[in-house]
Amino acid sequence: MEQKPLLPAPTVTPLIAEDLPSLAELLAANGLPTGDLTAAGRRFWRVADRDGLLGYGGLEAYGADGLLRSVVVPAERRGGGAGRAVAAAVSEEARRLGVARLWLLTIGAAGFFEGLGFRRTDRKSAPADIASSAQFAGLCPGSAVCLRRDLVPPATAMSGHPAGRE
Ligand SMILES: CC(C)(COP(=O)(O)OP(=O)(O)OC[C@H]1O[C@@H](n2cnc3c(N)ncnc32)[C@H](O)[C@@H]1OP(=O)(O)O)[C@@H](O)C(=O)NCCC(=O)NCCS
Repeated sequence: MEQKPLLPAPTVTPLIAEDLPSLAELLAANGLPTGDLTAAGRRFWRVADRDGLLGYGGLEAYGADGLLRSVVVPAERRGGGAGRAVAAAVSEEARRLGVARLWLLTIGAAGFFEGLGFRRTDRKSAPADIASSAQFAGLCPGSAVCLRRDLVPPATAMSGHPAGRE
C-alpha cells in the first residue's frame, strides 16, 4: 500500500513589532479586531510550511487561563488544514506558557473550533481576566459564541521524566 510522505512540521515564529502590519492587514480583511495588537500581554505567531504562510494566531495569557485570538488563514490556503495547524501551534505555545484552559469568542468559526475539541460554554463562566479582555468587552453576547478547551498537560509530566523544560 502506498504511504503518504511525512510532511515537515510547520514552523512557528513569534511575531515582532515589524511583523504586526501584515497581521493587522489580514485580520482587518477578515473583520477581526486590530486595535489592541500592540497592547501589553499579547503574543502572536506566524505559522508557515515550505509553501509559505499558513496563518497567524495569538494568545493573551492570564495565568492558567488564556484567550486564543486572531486565528486567521489567508484565503488561498484555506480548506487544507492550515487553520487546524495554526490553532494547534498556538495551543501548544499556550501550554508551554502554563495555560491550562483556552477560551475564545468567535462569530463565524464556532464549528471550526468545535472540530478542534473546543466546547461551547456560557461566557459568564469565563474567569474575570478573560471576561474583561478587550475581545470579550468588544463582542456582544448576541453575536459571538464562547468556547473553551482544556489543554492536556505535557506527556513528560506523566512519563517519569524529570520535571522542567522539555
Ligand atoms: C476559520 C479559519 C481559520 C479556518 O481555516 P482553514 O484553513 O479553512 O481550516 P482547516 O482547513 O484547518 O479546517 C479544519 C476543519 O474545520 C472546518 N471549518 C473550517 N472553517 C470553518 C468554519 N468557519 N465553520 C465551521 N467549520 C469550519 C473544515 O471544514 C475542516 O473540517 P474537517 O476536519 O471535517 O475537514 C479560516 O477560515 C479563517 O481565517 N477565517 C477568518 C478568520 C476567523 O474567522 N478566525 C476565527 C476567529 S479567531
